[in-house]
Amino acid sequence: MKIVILGAGGRLGAALLGEYREKYDIVGFTHAQLDLANLDDLRGKLGAMNFDVLINAAAFTNVDACETERDRAFLINAEAPGVLAAICTEKDTKLVHFSTDYVFDGGKRAPYTEEDQANPISAYGESKLAGEKNVLAAGDGHLVVRVSWVFGPDRPSFIDAMIKRANQDEKINAISDKFSTPTYTHDIAEMLARVLDDWSRRASASDGLGAGRLHGILHFANAGKCSWQEYAQWALDCCRDASIPLKATTVGALKLGDMTNWVARRPVYSVLCTAKYTELKGTAPRAWREAVADYITRFYSKK
Ligand SMILES: NC(=O)c1ccc[n+]([C@@H]2O[C@H](COP(=O)([O-])OP(=O)(O)OC[C@H]3O[C@@H](n4cnc5c(N)ncnc54)[C@H](OP(=O)(O)O)[C@@H]3O)[C@@H](O)[C@H]2O)c1
Repeated sequence: MKIVILGAGGRLGAALLGEYREKYDIVGFTHAQLDLANLDDLRGKLGAMNFDVLINAAAFTNVDACETERDRAFLINAEAPGVLAAICTEKDTKLVHFSTDYVFDGGKRAPYTEEDQANPISAYGESKLAGEKNVLAAGDGHLVVRVSWVFGPDRPSFIDAMIKRANQDEKINAISDKFSTPTYTHDIAEMLARVLDDWSRRASASDGLGAGRLHGILHFANAGKCSWQEYAQWALDCCRDASIPLKATTVGALKLGDMTNWVARRPVYSVLCTAKYTELKGTAPRAWREAVADYITRFYSKK
């Protein structure tokens, strides 16, 4: 299977490139190599390539900057994915497009399913939802994968910032009234590989890459839910268990209302339900605590 990955310099794109290098015939494009804002360049470069699956992990991900650069947010997060999907439809290949838990308003208090109504409360969320719609409108076979609170070794995220701060300060705090699920890039790569392998099997059984139910919207996340405070506390607990010395051992509580420097609104609850993936693939994602412990053991114990 020949795969092209966009956003290959990002947290998720770089992880997919690294995890898939041995398994698939893979080419990655970083932002510098291919700019999603240049739609003609996308058509020219990707139109001239042969591939079975195009994975779009590139996005304008700065949630606050999207509020002030709305046009750019819609160009990169909405218009460009529509162009990518059209290119794939024309070539009779598939697009896997990554989206976000921020398409939801956070008003629910049970995990969001793929069928739940999206209602974004930020320009980032609106632009990502428009991107999902553009992708799905361009062809039946494409897949939109929503993920939440992504962490991994290829680019620092919340968990790394918390560990860094705990290394410097005796007291650290994190928000205690905002909930979702930390999701490890390594686990996203494994979940997606099961989908890709399914497509590949169907293609070699000659019922076509477009067959089956693995298209439309699918939620990928580790299992369970937590606040940012619980997430950070677990990270410090894992560091302690791995004998990684830190100045801070407990994480104090901040309230969402304390974040007066944030420009964009964020959903207070955005846990993604992964029951559809579990039913389709016959296996459930592992718990977020296990995934975080694995990450810290693998990447912090070495440092
Ligand atoms: N991180 C999360 O917690 C999270 C949560 C939910 C959903 N997601 C979604 O997951 C996907 C991957 O996110 P991530 O965590 O890997 O974010 P990331 O680390 O910010 O990666 C995004 C990548 O896109 C690139 N990019 C930005 N503008 C571009 C453009 N105009 N053309 C080409 N590339 C461009 C960035 O390059 P530069 O850095 O060089 O600009 C970066 O390499 C995105 O669709 C995001 O919306 C992420």
